[in-house]
Parts: sequence; C-alpha cells; structure tokens
Amino acid sequence: MASHQLVILSSFFLYLFFATPLYPRATAASGSWSLLQPTIGISAMHMQLLPTDRVIIFDRTDFGASNISLPNGKCREDPNDYALKKDCTAHSIEYNVASNSIRPLMVLTDVWCSSGALMPDGSLVQTGGFNDGDHVVRVFNNSCNDCDWEEIESGLVQRRWYATNHILPDGRQIVIGGRRQFNYEFYPKAVASEKTYSLPFLVQTNDPNVENNLYPFVFLNTDGNLFIFANNRAILFNYVRNQVLKTYPEIPGGEPRNYPSTGSAVLLPLRVVQGKVVVVEVLVCGGAPKGAFVNAQNGKFDGALNSCGRVNINDPNPKWIMEIMPLARVMGDMLLLPNGDVLIINGASNGTAGWEYGRNPVLNPLIYRPNNPTSTRFDVQKPSNIPRMYHSTAVLLRDGRVLVGGSNPHVYYNFSNVLFPTELSLEAFSPPYLDPISSGIRPKIVSPPTQTKFKYGEHIVIRFTIQNQADLNLISVTMISPAFNTHSFSMNQRLLVLDNVTKSVGKFTYEVNTTAPPTTYIAPMGYYMLFVVHQNIPSEGIWVVIH
Ligand SMILES: *[C@@H]1O[C@H](CO)[C@@H](O)[C@H](O)[C@H]1NC(C)=O
Ligand SMILES: *[C@@H]1O[C@H](CO)[C@@H](O)[C@H](O)[C@H]1NC(C)=O
Ligand SMILES: *[C@@H]1O[C@H](CO)[C@@H](O)[C@H](O)[C@H]1NC(C)=O
Ligand SMILES: *[C@@H]1O[C@H](CO)[C@@H](O)[C@H](O)[C@H]1NC(C)=O
Ligand SMILES: *[C@@H]1O[C@H](CO)[C@@H](O)[C@H](O)[C@H]1NC(C)=O
Ligand SMILES: *[C@@H]1O[C@H](CO)[C@@H](O)[C@H](O)[C@H]1NC(C)=O
Repeated sequence: MASHQLVILSSFFLYLFFATPLYPRATAASGSWSLLQPTIGISAMHMQLLPTDRVIIFDRTDFGASNISLPNGKCREDPNDYALKKDCTAHSIEYNVASNSIRPLMVLTDVWCSSGALMPDGSLVQTGGFNDGDHVVRVFNNSCNDCDWEEIESGLVQRRWYATNHILPDGRQIVIGGRRQFNYEFYPKAVASEKTYSLPFLVQTNDPNVENNLYPFVFLNTDGNLFIFANNRAILFNYVRNQVLKTYPEIPGGEPRNYPSTGSAVLLPLRVVQGKVVVVEVLVCGGAPKGAFVNAQNGKFDGALNSCGRVNINDPNPKWIMEIMPLARVMGDMLLLPNGDVLIINGASNGTAGWEYGRNPVLNPLIYRPNNPTSTRFDVQKPSNIPRMYHSTAVLLRDGRVLVGGSNPHVYYNFSNVLFPTELSLEAFSPPYLDPISSGIRPKIVSPPTQTKFKYGEHIVIRFTIQNQADLNLISVTMISPAFNTHSFSMNQRLLVLDNVTKSVGKFTYEVNTTAPPTTYIAPMGYYMLFVVHQNIPSEGIWVVIH
C-alpha cells in the first residue's frame, strides 16, 4: 500500500475514533513498538509463555550454527542433522521477561514445525517436529531456575509435523493431524497401548497437491466438543466417540485459510453469565487464495485475503458473517488482548507461507473490537520496521505487551543474499491501552497475590486501585490462557469474561466480587492470566490457577 493511502486510511480511523465515544483514550496512540533484543541468537519460530513469566522460544535444530552457544561448552552430536553433525550452538532459549535476558537451552531432536500446549501443572509439553524429532514428546518443567528440555523418544504413535494441539477438560492434550496424518492421538495416553483415532475430515479437506489443511484451527467448545477448521470449512467433533456432530457451511468464497494459505483464527471472548456461556464465536481472518502456493512457487505472488469470517458455532443453523479488514494479510497472528480486543499482527500482503513465498510485509498490526458496530471494529496500528514473514511469532505477556519475534530463517542462518534475512531480534508491541495517557484510569490489582489457586465456581474477590474517578459500571474481569504460538496460530488460546459486582472499599480502592469459571469445559484446568479491566484499560495481570 502506498503511503498516501495509509495516511488516508489512518485519518479515516482517526475519524472513527472521534466518532466512537466508547474507547476515547484507547485508540489515540495506536500502539507503540520497542526493540527488546537486537538478537536472541535464534529465530523465534515457536513461543510459549510460562507461569514464571519466562518465554520458551525455539527454532529448528538442523539449520547450522545459530548465534548463541550452548551453556558450559556443551555440544550436540546428531548424525541425522542436515546441516551440522556436531553443533555447539543452542536452538532454543528461555527469555526472562522481567530481566529482559536470555538463557540458552538444549533441545536434542528436531522441533521444526512442531506443536504444543501448557499442561495444568504449568509445564510445557511440546510434540513432534521433523526427522529424528517427529515422534518425540518434549517436556519443559517450569519448576526450577535451570530447567531444560526432557525428551521422550517415542512419546507419539505417529509422526507429527504441522499438527495442532489443544488441552482437554481432563488435563490431557489432543494432537490433531500433521502432514499426511489423517488422525489424532492424546498425550499422555489413557493406557500405554492407546493408539490413534482416524479423522476423515482431514482427508476430505486435504488437496493432495497443496496440503492446505495443515495446522488446523482447533478450539474447545463450551459443550466439551472440538471445533476444527481446516482448509475452508469446519466441523464440531466429539473426540471421545470419534463422531462428527455438526458440519459447518464452507466459508463464503471458499478460499483456503490454513497452511500454506495461512490465515489465523481465534475463539472470541467467552462471556460467563450465571455459570453459562451463551454465545461462542470463532473468527477466522486472512489467508491466501486457491492456487496461491503453486503460483508462489512459480514466482507469482497473489494478493492475500482481506476477509474475515465470524460464526456462532452453537447456532443450530450456523452462518458465516464476512467482514473486510482494512489490510489484506497472509501469515498474520491473531491474539486475544486482556480487554477482549483481537490483535492481528505479523505477516505479508502477497504470497503464501513456506520458505521464500511471502512478499510485501504488512508492518501495521490491526485491532478488532468484537463488540463494536461492524463499521468501527478495525483500527490500524503503528507499524514496526521489521518484516515478520514466515515463521514469525507473537505471544501476549502478563503486562499486556505482545512479544514479537522470528521471520523466515535460512539454512546456515544466512543474513545476506536473501530477500528476508534470518531475523534474530525480539520486539514488543504495546497496544494503545498501555499508553501512559490512560494510567489514571488503569486498575492495579492489590490482591489476591499472583499464583493463587481457585476451585471451579469459587467466589473470587479482587481488590484493586484506580487513581482517577472510577466508573464501576465499566469494570470487567478477564482470564486468558497462555497460548502456544507457531505458524500464525495460537493453540489453546482462550479468554473468559467473568461476572462482576464491584464496590468501593476506600479511597481509590475497590473490590470486585467475581466467580471462577464453572466447569472444565468452559475453562480447562491450569494457569490463566487474570486482569481487571476499567473503561477498556486492563491492569497488569496476575497468574491464577483453576483446579
Ligand atoms: C551474533 O551475536 C553477536 C554477539 O553475540 C552479535 O554481535 C552479532 O550481531 C549477532 N549477529 C546477528 C546477525 O544477530
Ligand atoms: C517438575 O519438577 C518437579 C520438581 O522436581 C517435580 O515434582 C514434577 O513432577 C516435575 N514435573 C514434570 C511434568 O516433570
Ligand atoms: C500483490 O498482490 C496485488 C493484488 O493481487 C498485486 O496487484 C501485486 O502486483 C502483488 N505484488 C507482488 C509483489 O506480487
Ligand atoms: C549461506 O551460507 C552458507 C554457509 O556460510 C553458504 O555456503 C551459502 O552460499 C549461503 N547462501 C547464500 C544464499 O548466501
Ligand atoms: C460488570 O458489571 C456491570 C455493572 O453491574 C455490568 O453492567 C456489566 O455488564 C458487567 N460486566 C460483565 C462482563 O459481566
Ligand atoms: C461474593 O458474591 C457472592 C454471591 O453474590 C456472595 O455469596 C459472597 O458472599 C460475596 N463475597 C464477598 C466477599 O462479598
């Protein structure tokens, strides 16, 4: 897009902001960027925030020497490695948010294009990858300061490359699909002999020439079933009985939305009212049109899709409602923000996912406000100056910032003679709610302390302060699960809006009485970041454990 068009666009959104009284402060600044680290040594292909406020980041192991050494002179000797048989560099790191520092980790087998999720005990379980890593399950225990990866060699029954994981109400993970895997399995297994279960939907949505259904978008519905979107359509699936319960209509236009036509998707915020969630909606945005992958291989870079489809998944007669984004995007990441807005960040406006197939980075994030009138939902944010193409990532931090890294790594980490050089930097995008202009109305949680445990349905009293005049009708309490992000999809991403009764208990001090989620269907057990939101401005979060 030419810069004059951008100026016109942003003035249009500025106009919208003045015309929309709901979010006066939030939209004024349109976000800001900061470079946290010029290099973290590796390319951030996969990211997971842990409840210790550390982010586990990993790349792939068979790409030659990275820019960071393994600790204590360690080396990895791997005859299967494509680039280096003996490699003394790290391909995974732990990023400490508070100290903005890095610790190299040692991963032994190839984690390239793998998947994962945080377990209820706060450990990261990550599955599959490529080559010698495709059957491996890796555990990152978060309960020590010097923890490192532990690998379970044949943890998976099938090889899983480009699969999607989700945490289940029983605390296990489901691992769905992967290249040429039209089935799913669980981790851990219910019994040691547990095998895989077939999923014909992945055959039906697989175009054998372009496997346009990899990294399917998977969400846990509040009835305990899974919503699975692959290529251009979705099913509601009972994974226990191996039964398709509902087939959703094809997304209008029929364009593919999954890898390599990579769009993204989120489960929109789930509002719990008197122990029930009435509306469950999924939003799918961007991607690349049919044929784009083959075209990109032949040097033609099709324009990305600019449409989003939104569907109420429990509607007896579900229909996709289409919306148009101000910027088209392939390989965007969709993240739920603490105030219930959706951030769309990273990616390109031409081409597809896959090694050198993206063109024209989209540097401006978008914010989508699900509850606004249709014409005022999107807001263009300030641009970064670093392209984040294929293999870029983004995760929400507890302080409300979004950590952004990665982009198109190259064999041998080449930094020159390539269109989008290997990108080792780590940035943070601060959504407009972090602008200091809002500090007077920003809530600050005083109690309970971080890491407090709550039982399902338990009353939670949160004490917080607000410096300026508070409007107690504009308070909400939200809870977000920390997602596993790779390839433009955040596995296990979930935001709950809890009920609230707020009262003043002293000067600038308030208490909100809310209720922990009622069931494991609505909120699987484990760690969440909890926020108090006032006039659309979220507090810093605290970690809570629901069990
Ligand atoms: C690699 O790391 C060194 C220091 O550790 C740094 O000076 C150099 O710029 C890094 N290279 C890249 C391409 O980031
Ligand atoms: C993590 O380490 C702790 C302490 O060593 C141990 O009790 C726990 O079982 C470990 N968790 C996993 C998932 O290995
Ligand atoms: C990107 O897509 C647009 C829309 O199809 C097209 O006009 C433009 O030429 C493409 N750019 C590149 C670099 O291929
Ligand atoms: C990438 O780096 C390798 C090893 O240094 C070198 O042999 C190769 O020519 C480089 N490729 C490009 C495109 O520069
Ligand atoms: C929070 O409470 C206020 C005041 O009772 C109410 O208007 C609002 O709908 C509640 N918000 C949520 C998310 O339940
Ligand atoms: C919170 O609300 C519940 C239900 O309205 C009530 O039973 C409980 O006593 C309240 N707790 C506090 C501390 O106000």
